[in-house]
Amino acid sequence: MSTPQDQSTTQATVPPSPEFAAQAVAQADLYERAAADRLGFWAEQARENVTWDTDFTDVLDWSGAPFAKWFVGGRLNVAVNCVDRHVEAGNGDRVALHFEGEPGDTRAVTYAELHEQVQRAANALQALGVQAGDRVAIYLPMLVESIVAMLACARLGAAHSVVFGGFSADALNSRINDAEAKLVITCDGSYRRGKPTTLKPAVDAALAKGAPSVTNVLVVRRNGEEVDWVEGRDVWWHEALEGAAPQHEAESFDAENPLFVLYTSGTTGKPKGILHTSGGYLVQTAYTTKNVFDVKPERDVYWCTADIGWVTGHSYIVYGPLANGLTQVVYEGTPDTPDKDRWWSIVEKYGVTVLYTAPTAIRTCMKWGEEHPAKHDLSSLRVLGSVGENINPEAWNWYRRVIGSDRTPIADTWWQTETGAQMIAPLPGVTALKAGSAQVPLPGIVAEVVDDAGEPVGPGQTGYLVLTEPWPAMLRGIWGDEQRFKDTYWSRFPGRYFAGDGAKRDDDGDIWLLGRVDDVMNVSGHRLSTAEIESALVSHPDVAEAAVVGATDETTGQAVVAFVILRGGHEQGPDTVADLRNHVAKEIGPIAKPKSIMVVAELPKTRSGKIMRRLLRDVAEHRTPGDVTTLTDSSVMDAISAGMNATPQD
Ligand code: PRX
Repeated sequence: MSTPQDQSTTQATVPPSPEFAAQAVAQADLYERAAADRLGFWAEQARENVTWDTDFTDVLDWSGAPFAKWFVGGRLNVAVNCVDRHVEAGNGDRVALHFEGEPGDTRAVTYAELHEQVQRAANALQALGVQAGDRVAIYLPMLVESIVAMLACARLGAAHSVVFGGFSADALNSRINDAEAKLVITCDGSYRRGKPTTLKPAVDAALAKGAPSVTNVLVVRRNGEEVDWVEGRDVWWHEALEGAAPQHEAESFDAENPLFVLYTSGTTGKPKGILHTSGGYLVQTAYTTKNVFDVKPERDVYWCTADIGWVTGHSYIVYGPLANGLTQVVYEGTPDTPDKDRWWSIVEKYGVTVLYTAPTAIRTCMKWGEEHPAKHDLSSLRVLGSVGENINPEAWNWYRRVIGSDRTPIADTWWQTETGAQMIAPLPGVTALKAGSAQVPLPGIVAEVVDDAGEPVGPGQTGYLVLTEPWPAMLRGIWGDEQRFKDTYWSRFPGRYFAGDGAKRDDDGDIWLLGRVDDVMNVSGHRLSTAEIESALVSHPDVAEAAVVGATDETTGQAVVAFVILRGGHEQGPDTVADLRNHVAKEIGPIAKPKSIMVVAELPKTRSGKIMRRLLRDVAEHRTPGDVTTLTDSSVMDAISAGMNATPQD
């Protein structure tokens, strides 16, 4: 594998302030303890962060690799860990959830209230026939009831399968059938951009396509939109909970009892049902929440802007924060309703201390302008987090300066649906931060960057990210498809987990993520990362956002094609494209110069905010764009295709 360019890989770092370092939850000794005895370290974390009804006898059984068993013999109830034990410890009056509806309605739910709701819901689910070992599909927006529903499943030992509310009836149907869900929990609808939306019709349509495993649909009333009703099948959530007893005795389950299945896309058209189990998952989500975000329940107000439909919502809204007994904000709507300062008004209103969001959101806020956060007092913020894609240094610096007042540490956290919890991230009181790098594996995690032959790469070299040791929150398989699990993750480098991400080690040993390996291009035999070129483009003062794809090219193998959105107030001039190409050449090297650059108004994004490079590749290669059904706005592609055809190419 060749080095893509000759650039210095050392970079300025931002050490933690002495005041922050002195009070930090995680100190440097965590690394030493984990390195000295990794499994002993995880046993310690397991006993410190989780309450076990029966202690485990072995930390790890890897004899059935790649199928791991963590905390063997241990028994616990995940919901009791997230709710009951905080009430028992005398913290029932602490607010667990500050719910903020998009229209401005609010609701504060204490741990005692959450406890009662979860118990009633568990009884209601049980009355509908749900028992340990079943699957329950949850198709809900960001509501208190969504979290209650997930915890009620966990309490019963039934696995939930949350399907993001933006997915279509078809997608919901295939997920319900793949997991053979017994029950579907949904709502009438929600609010988005000031308008009522509906969810129940998609469930009705999904079930009309055939879902033999489903016996009932439990319906939360949120916005009062009219819904069709199937007598005998459909049940109102509020009626079921009112009719249920407020106490529910929780059973203990084996550490390896399935906790949830979550579908994610792979390289084929069929989504993979990623399976997570109970003990190891809870240990690692609780441990990472506490140490990476430096949280203490008496002090912090935590807010993760993800949706529970994605793994970030599972691990860093539901399980990690609640296991820690935190107070958190749950917001239903979009960041620009009614105005572009909504998020910042929420931070000010609740005194949010820890904010966890995605680079795409940060770049959107950059595009909207600094005047929106400037309207609010953000001085409560102590720690900022980032997840989902690599955060380009420009966005990192903006996040730190504009949102964090040049004061807050930023935790860039690398992980995946499959890893279940954060894997590579700085510790905010220990690590000297480097804008754009996720830096080092967390204590207890072992990662490596390797070349094609599986050998570790040297400083400045690119390769593939692999995880060389099992970790507690690792996926336990793909639902119903053992072979795909082995093939996808464990066959490329036998014995090691292949993450599918390109990465680079710098001179200090810090890891830089370079995007999915299918987004790594090979131009004239040189390996180039889409992410690195995007970062270079975004570092140009005129550019708000950029997406780069490798388009097949007769001469060079692949050619770099870039799509850019200019910042507000910047018009495309006659020299814009030439300027940007030269800028990339200056930042990375002439080899990385995009062959063509197209200025666009919007980029095609999935509902979770990921740029759909596959569609851009279609345009760059002059094909009709493929399946656009997962886009937030499918008209975006029409505009880009029309523009591409009208733009003379080099
Ligand atoms: O490519 C990496 C990118 O997101 C992928 C995982 O996506 P998903 O399973 O949807 O989970 C997203 C939330 C955990 C990874 O393979 N990714 C995630 N976080 C980062 C990242 N890339 C770079 N830096 C990150 N911090």
